[in-house]
Amino acid sequence: MMKIQHKKLLAWVEEMQNLCEPDTVYWCDGSKEEADRLLHEMEKKGAAIRLNPEKRPNSFLFRSDPKDVARVEKRTFICSKKQDDAGPTNNWEDPVVMKEKLKKLFKGCMHGRTMYVIPFCMGPLGSPISHIGIEITDSAYVVVNMRIMTRMGQKVIDQLGADGHFVPCLHSVGKPLEKGQADVRWPCDPDNTYIVHFPEERSIYSFGSGYGGNALLGKKCFALRIASNMARDEGWLAEHMLILGVKSPEGKKKYVTAAFPSACGKTNFAMIIPPKEMKGWTITTVGDDIAWLKPDEKGILRAINPESGFFGVAPGTSLKTNPNALASCRCDSIFTNVALTDDGDIWWEGLTDTPPKHLIDWQGNDWTPDCGRVSSHPNSRFTAPVKNCPCVDEACEDPKGVPIDAMIYGGRRMSEIPLVYQSYNWVHGVLVGATVASEQTAAAEGKQGELRSDPMAMLPFCGYHMGRYFGHHVNMAKRVKKLPLIFHTNWFRKDNGKFIWPGFGENMRVLKWIFDRVDNKIDADKTPLGWMPRYKDIDWSGLNFSEEQWKVLMALSPKTLKEQFSSPELLFVKLLPSVPEELKKEYQLLLERLG
Ligand code: GTP
Ligand code: SPV
Ligand code: MN
Repeated sequence: MMKIQHKKLLAWVEEMQNLCEPDTVYWCDGSKEEADRLLHEMEKKGAAIRLNPEKRPNSFLFRSDPKDVARVEKRTFICSKKQDDAGPTNNWEDPVVMKEKLKKLFKGCMHGRTMYVIPFCMGPLGSPISHIGIEITDSAYVVVNMRIMTRMGQKVIDQLGADGHFVPCLHSVGKPLEKGQADVRWPCDPDNTYIVHFPEERSIYSFGSGYGGNALLGKKCFALRIASNMARDEGWLAEHMLILGVKSPEGKKKYVTAAFPSACGKTNFAMIIPPKEMKGWTITTVGDDIAWLKPDEKGILRAINPESGFFGVAPGTSLKTNPNALASCRCDSIFTNVALTDDGDIWWEGLTDTPPKHLIDWQGNDWTPDCGRVSSHPNSRFTAPVKNCPCVDEACEDPKGVPIDAMIYGGRRMSEIPLVYQSYNWVHGVLVGATVASEQTAAAEGKQGELRSDPMAMLPFCGYHMGRYFGHHVNMAKRVKKLPLIFHTNWFRKDNGKFIWPGFGENMRVLKWIFDRVDNKIDADKTPLGWMPRYKDIDWSGLNFSEEQWKVLMALSPKTLKEQFSSPELLFVKLLPSVPEELKKEYQLLLERLG
């Protein structure tokens, strides 16, 4: 039994117990024994499948309810006191009204279940950039995932002491069990799902879903939606960004962040293996999804990964595309909604060129290559510890964080947007991030492939008014002495229906150009969008990529671009009245450059 000295925490847990009426309350200590026990219990109940210990040691497969497979943006709310503070991009409800609604939903919702109390820390324990949360949940699946994704358990309670600050996060799958009622494999309540944030109170309530960002509340709910509010008030940034280290053959090292929308290549880019011909270049991983960036006392912008695990998209991950991700989930991992092989291992589309002759698909049905269905859900995921990653960065656990030299924004754009360009200055960089549009993926409900604005990859994750969020980015220039250079990338441009750029490890060539720009080593071409590399500026060793292809990849059509950047459909255009004058000016300059 854990010793808790924190009166406010004890009082809150008791209040939630009275509201949710679980059978029992259990405080998680974060130990391996605890996780093993919970996994074993879920295995016995049929909620989890233990994978072949020889092929995939200490790893489990879960199959979700087919109605609970991704984030639900329509049911995600920012309940600030004033609607205007949530801004036009967030769903809003009056906090008093929403609290009433939630009280009814949560009343008795944990009947027949255990209420788990999960103390967790986002970021290395003791870091001046880290923050603590407590998640209450009735899902043991959430507990075992949170143990991988966050620093969790006794050590966090110790750190919290008697009066430390924590973000209260209440979660329920929303499926109370009455006496004698049998549980289902994946309890959830998709018709009543609510993911609710109270930014002033810094609290989170999530009901009805057990999947990913809906349920692992340290991730998007805390580390982005609530943290973006904290960051605005305290002068730092909470971003949907990977963090990587890049070292040159001379041994110079730089750190780079990149914000790409969900399922647009963050995990891949965070751990690329440079082409073997680019001898001496190495990439190391700090994080693959979220970055917290804070200026230190010298004004250097330093970043930590608030998470300690990867919740990565499974389909498309292979030895060819991302061997480091595969190595990360070789053991001690949880798989959700992928297929099961006959020898008790996992498989998904793209893992191997030739699919196995027989599988059990993500819904538990027999699957053969000719059956006309995919074996794994497009948003199926692996939960794997960062420390399993072969290229984990040496400063990954450094409480000081790593100094950031460059920031990349990007999207999935089959046309118009070139492979890479660099902003002219910080405010222009904010504009580059603020005007990102990307084709929708399976990471959330909605129409796949449809182009939508996703400023800084934060559309679903910014916990306050998006226009003011741009303003906060602009203002960071006053706090940071050496501002990172800002770039835009697009790996996804197509010609005749095919990707022009080979991507994945080959993205190292773009990263090298970025490195050289940070190092002030090479000139670039001035274009309406920003600085762009010339063909000769890219290291082509080992890759057959002609100057003709390069021209297609980098081509700009100022007329079309101007139409797109001034379209009333572009979210930035709608937000213009709420952005700072400096940013408006940069925007006018862009339109002028485009003719
Ligand atoms: P979230 O975890 O949802 O935030 O997403 P993520 O950005 O980490 O996504 P991830 O890296 O898992 O992206 C997966 C998708 O991007 C897959 O469809 C990959 O095939 C595709 N992808 C990643 N890198 C590249 C690339 O360089 N080129 C191309 N064409 N596709 C890529
Ligand atoms: C995303 O959708 O950006 C994710 C997955 O990283 S989830 O944790 O479900 O939000
Ligand atoms: Mn993400």
